[in-house]
Amino acid sequence: MEKKEQARFYITTPIYYVNDTPHIGHAYTTVAADVQARFHRMLGERVFFLTGTDEHGQKVKQAAEQRGLSPQEHADQMVENFQRLWRELLVSNDAFIRTTDPEHQAVVQELLQRLWQRGLIQRRTYKGWYCTPDERFWTEKDLREGACPECGRAVQYIEEDNYFFLMSRFQGPLLEHLRRHPEYIKPSSRLNEVLGFLSRPLGDLCISRPLKRLSWGIPLPFDPQYVTYVWFDALVNYYSALRYLAKDLSFWPADCHVIGKDILTTHAVYWSTMLMALELPLPRLIFAHGWWTVEGRKMSKSLGNVVEPQAVCARYGVDAFRYFLLREIPFGLDGDFSESALVGRINNDLANDLGNLLSRTLGMLRKYCQAVVPERVNSKDREGLEKKVQAFFYTSAGDLPLLENMKLHLKEFKFNEALEHIWAVINGVNKFIDSAQPWRERDEARRGNVLYTALEALRLLALYLAPFMPRKAQEIWDQLGYHKDISRSLFSQEGRWGLLAPGTKAEKGPPLFPRQELPAKAP
Ligand code: MSP
Repeated sequence: MEKKEQARFYITTPIYYVNDTPHIGHAYTTVAADVQARFHRMLGERVFFLTGTDEHGQKVKQAAEQRGLSPQEHADQMVENFQRLWRELLVSNDAFIRTTDPEHQAVVQELLQRLWQRGLIQRRTYKGWYCTPDERFWTEKDLREGACPECGRAVQYIEEDNYFFLMSRFQGPLLEHLRRHPEYIKPSSRLNEVLGFLSRPLGDLCISRPLKRLSWGIPLPFDPQYVTYVWFDALVNYYSALRYLAKDLSFWPADCHVIGKDILTTHAVYWSTMLMALELPLPRLIFAHGWWTVEGRKMSKSLGNVVEPQAVCARYGVDAFRYFLLREIPFGLDGDFSESALVGRINNDLANDLGNLLSRTLGMLRKYCQAVVPERVNSKDREGLEKKVQAFFYTSAGDLPLLENMKLHLKEFKFNEALEHIWAVINGVNKFIDSAQPWRERDEARRGNVLYTALEALRLLALYLAPFMPRKAQEIWDQLGYHKDISRSLFSQEGRWGLLAPGTKAEKGPPLFPRQELPAKAP
């Protein structure tokens, strides 16, 4: 029989500027991409999950200057904050790209050269407005009350020669692509935004900065008096990483670029037209998520309310933080972070529903079965019990198995809904125990069957939770005495009912999610 080719899945996060330390916004995008990567690995696909840092440009140069360091020294230090945080957040990226990698720089130059030779880059005199913090050019009519329409900050008038990518030529082809593939940009509100942007004539894109104004960038291969515009350099990372990190171009086109809503135009318009000009296929999906506010207010350094992921994890645990990020708000919408909402989720969903299910089941196992997984005693009764619980894994929507439901929801980035389905099963199993009342049961065989059923349901629940909460999912398996590496497991193998072997020692451990008190408010 011919062997079916293993499916591939390539997912990316934005590459983060090293002018700042990572905060909840960076963690959000990266954790969401991580859940997808883990899920697809467990489906048996060959996954390449990429994240990294954006290290060139004005902002990074300024941040370095303020610290009295060279941009490279500054970047070398800052990159560690990101790499450390991703390890702490259990992010399973397959590679980490830095735009200062010589191999990346070589690919950027190669692509620029290709566009130059094809006549798709031209030198022109630019007269207009420039927003230094955003590194964006604006025309007079773009400005809003004389300031940058994007960030509202002051702009400078400049007149200089620069190189332009003839982006305008691709307005028609891009519109055509969007008409044929409306699924290219999600959620659909973001597609409308892009269509709105494209309803006006698309200009050409200035892709150079003169050395005299900015020295920290990749030199243009055809004119060393200029460096490459930081966005052109940065977007190429998605492709260059396959050349020298994955060493496998068959991952192109990417399955998904996960980004925040603020960087939609650069991806949906700049990157898409760059790829068209290079005659490379477009990615399958760009998903732009919403933004977090903090206790109802915009997060900013000046307000002093920046949420630092390390601090949250130190206090509440990584898995709870990951769960909260994806459970609390639908992925495409904006949402609010508050410690009370986080504590509410921990106490209700994690401690009461999930944690308690594990601890009560293992508590009874210790009490009635010396902490040993009981035999499944054959009886009609057993089949009935198991069927009842197995039915929970076939949830309401279309009577699909839980895994199929998760696939549908994760395809649409509906993490919260996938989790709701898992919780419907958790609640179902809790109710099953309430009504079976094993503590009242006199018939030992029946009690054993009830407990076996609950234990096996927990083993399966942990499997489905693993992409979201890898460490706690492993802890559940370990407490069940099922000592396999959950993150390397496949749904197709481990998702079968009945793999927990009778006779296994299953020792109750410390509570999975201790209940949390709300921290006292500072006066
Ligand atoms: N370097 C560029 C991306 C280049 S990709 C080729 C960049 N970097 S960034 O560090 O400023 O931000 C990266 C991501 O963080 C964006 O996706 C942005 O949406 C996200 N967030 C920043 N603040 C955020 C919130 N308050 N909430 C959610 N996400 C936010 O842009």
